[in-house]
Amino acid sequence: MLRQPPEGGDDLSNSGSLFGWLVTAGFVLTLLNYPVKAVYRSVVARWPQTSKAKRIYMRFQKAIVLNHRFFALFTTVMLLAHVVIQLLYRWASLTGLIAATLMVANSLLGAYGHYIKKKRRSAWLMFHRLMAVLLVVAVVAHVASGGR
Ligand code: HEM
Ligand code: HEM
Repeated sequence: MLRQPPEGGDDLSNSGSLFGWLVTAGFVLTLLNYPVKAVYRSVVARWPQTSKAKRIYMRFQKAIVLNHRFFALFTTVMLLAHVVIQLLYRWASLTGLIAATLMVANSLLGAYGHYIKKKRRSAWLMFHRLMAVLLVVAVVAHVASGGR
C-alpha cells in the first residue's frame, strides 16, 4: 500500500534540520578548544595552585582538548547524514556545500597536524585556525538563511 506522507513529507525527509542542528552542536564542541584555552591563559592560570575551582577547570579543559578530534569526527558523521538527507529530500544548498567543503578540509588538516606533525605548532595550525573562522562565517550564513 502506498503510504501518503503527512504534510511536508515523512519523518526521514523532515529529519534533515535535526541533523543540521546536531552538526551545529558538534561544531560548537569542536570550536570550544580555543576559548577554553584562552580563558585558562587569561584568567584561570592566575588562580592559586591550591584552588579547587582551578583543578576542576583544568579537568574540564583536558576533556575538551583531548576529545577535540572526536567532536570533529562526530560533527563530520552528522554532516554526512545531513547532506544525504537534504540532497534526497530538499536541495543542494550552496552555503551548506561551502561549509561542508571547509569542514572536511579542516578535519583533514587537523588529522595531518595531529598524526603527522605530532601536534607540533607550525603553519598547519595557523591555517587550521583560519579555516575554523571561515567555517563559522559559512555556518552562520547557512543557518541564518534557513539552509539556502
Ligand atoms: C557544516 C555544514 C552544515 C551545517 C552546520 C548545517 C546546518 C544546518 C541547520 C542547523 C539547518 C536548519 C536550519 C533551520 O531549521 O532553520 C540546515 C538546513 C538545511 N541544510 Fe544544512 N548544514 C550544513 C551543510 C549542508 C550541506 C552540505 C547541504 C547541502 C546538501 C545542506 C542543506 C541544507 C538544506 C537544504 C536545509 C534546509 C532544509 C529545510 O528547510 O527543509 N546543509 N542546515
Ligand atoms: C571541523 C573540524 C575542526 C575544527 C573547526 C577545528 C578547530 C580547531 C581550532 C579552532 C583550534 C585552535 C585551538 C588552539 O588555538 O589551541 C584547533 C586546534 C587543533 N586541532 Fe582542530 N579542528 C577541527 C578538526 C580537527 C581534527 C579532525 C583533528 C585531529 C584529528 C584536529 C586536531 C587539532 C590539533 C592537534 C590542534 C592543536 C591544538 C590542540 O592540540 O588542541 N582538529 N582546531
